[in-house]
Amino acid sequence: MANTIVVEKDGAIALVRLNRPQVLNALNEELLTELGAALRALDEDDSCRCIVLTGNDKAFAAGADIKEAFVGVTPISMLAQDLTAKWEVIRRIKKPIIAAVSGFALGGGCELAMVCDIIVASETAKFGQPEINLGIIPGAGGTQRLTRAAGKWVANEMILTGRFISAQEAKDIGLVVHVYPAESFLDDAKALARTIAEKAPVAARLATEAVDVAWNSPLEAGLEFERKAFYLLFATEDKAEGVDAFVNKRKPQFKGR
Ligand code: CAA
Repeated sequence: MANTIVVEKDGAIALVRLNRPQVLNALNEELLTELGAALRALDEDDSCRCIVLTGNDKAFAAGADIKEAFVGVTPISMLAQDLTAKWEVIRRIKKPIIAAVSGFALGGGCELAMVCDIIVASETAKFGQPEINLGIIPGAGGTQRLTRAAGKWVANEMILTGRFISAQEAKDIGLVVHVYPAESFLDDAKALARTIAEKAPVAARLATEAVDVAWNSPLEAGLEFERKAFYLLFATEDKAEGVDAFVNKRKPQFKGR
């Protein structure tokens, strides 16, 4: 039983809820460890095809747990603790993860959303990288991923001022895909997850992997990865099923093989 997260399976999708409401879901070591373990278990669970990661109405996550992670630490103790390794576990999950953000997604919370494959938001969401107010900079990918998403000038303004942006502004800069009404936002996020869960799982996995490669490598290497992944999918039963379903005008039933 986890202390800091709650996992609910719902057919082919799973909802993972960050659950430290007393500190706005601040990310401490225990939460990052439990989150990594839960996501890995879902990654290995064939019945789960898409994951929704969320918080509560007030906060997705308000960043690293400042009191636990930043008080009385030294560079050497941080090196020994190696929180980066915990983030790496989350980054390497292959199943599509949708970050469903309501309320604050700040610092490490914004960075956690950006590790996911898709970000959707309630109209109440607020995103920001306010580390500058603590005398530091983002340390879990914020300077890199926000810049890739929003461009140099927007990223610099947000990181240098620590300003929070609204869900709509986050959509305008390309961070958020959909802004949903507060009343229905989690149902809307789950509906998106169900749509993805109906698709061919091996193709979904290789699609997000290929998109990640686009972030990390020059175009030639990305095109090479895409070409190999494309060919690989022709070995799957799901490719035969998808093409047959199209030709015979029926809905495909994908099995993940
Ligand atoms: N760490 C630890 N505790 C936190 C926290 C955090 N990141 N964010 C909020 N809390 C705690 C508060 O201390 C408070 O606890 P108490 O009731 O015991 O005082 C509780 O959560 C509720 O918070 P507030 O009373 O502050 O709520 P508010 O609505 O007035 O303000 C807020 C909300 C603007 C988000 C404010 O809490 C805030 O600024 N939080 C810190 C945000 C931040 O700086 N995040 C970046 C952290 S650094 C980081 O993430 C580095 C990295 O790259 C990994």
